[in-house]
Amino acid sequence: MTIRRTLIAANWKMNGDIALLDSMLSVIDSEGVISDTVEALICPSFTLLGAFDKQSNVCLGAQNVSQHDSGAYTGEISIEMLKQAACEYVIVGHSERREIYAETDQIVAEKFVQIARAGLKPVLCLGESLEQRESNFTEKVLAQQIAAVIDASDVNDWAHAVIAYEPIWAIGTGKTATPEMAQETHAFIRENLRSHSKTHDIAETMRILYGGSMKPDNAVDLLSQADIDGGLVGGASLDPNSFISILKAAS
Ligand code: PGA
Repeated sequence: MTIRRTLIAANWKMNGDIALLDSMLSVIDSEGVISDTVEALICPSFTLLGAFDKQSNVCLGAQNVSQHDSGAYTGEISIEMLKQAACEYVIVGHSERREIYAETDQIVAEKFVQIARAGLKPVLCLGESLEQRESNFTEKVLAQQIAAVIDASDVNDWAHAVIAYEPIWAIGTGKTATPEMAQETHAFIRENLRSHSKTHDIAETMRILYGGSMKPDNAVDLLSQADIDGGLVGGASLDPNSFISILKAAS
């Protein structure tokens, strides 16, 4: 049986400040919840990256990156800048980026490659809308989102990647996919990776996180599913007690 180290990732979105970052790191480090089997990641706003205590056992990530190397792109941030800020992970293709900022599958794929080739770890978000789920298009949508990235990437770009399955209808709504529903979709994603030659060999070791209203009270059930290897947590990651509870549920 393949052991995949559980990753509990905090996506702070446009929330959080230095005080929250400091208290979150000290609570996580002092609780001793990070181990060989559990990894913790915080993706705060860009302005907090420099304030992150590099002595912490928690990993640091960014929520977005430009697909361009440098140049006249006002308001954007490059992968080299994130590397210098000691980021290890970068979230890419979050549904809020896809929907609010019109990031297409193509742009997401370019960003994924940009992250991987800089030696950082992409957290590739996938997910369907409620309408797509109700019309039975979930698998088709996810397969398309994966295929766009596979087409633009090389085998090596996948080596350190993580996938986050985030049903859009469950994000920030308090509605969670049932553990069985999430498991079925995660298994589909893993099978889909196995079916492509570029991702065939990493399908088994790929960590597939669940995102969408993961909370202390549903984390154990979700994380105990065979193909759920962690969580990408929004709302519940803004409270140190909730986030610690989810980390404990993972261990
Ligand atoms: P949520 O957000 O946990 O608040 O639903 C998850 C996410 O968008 O990553």
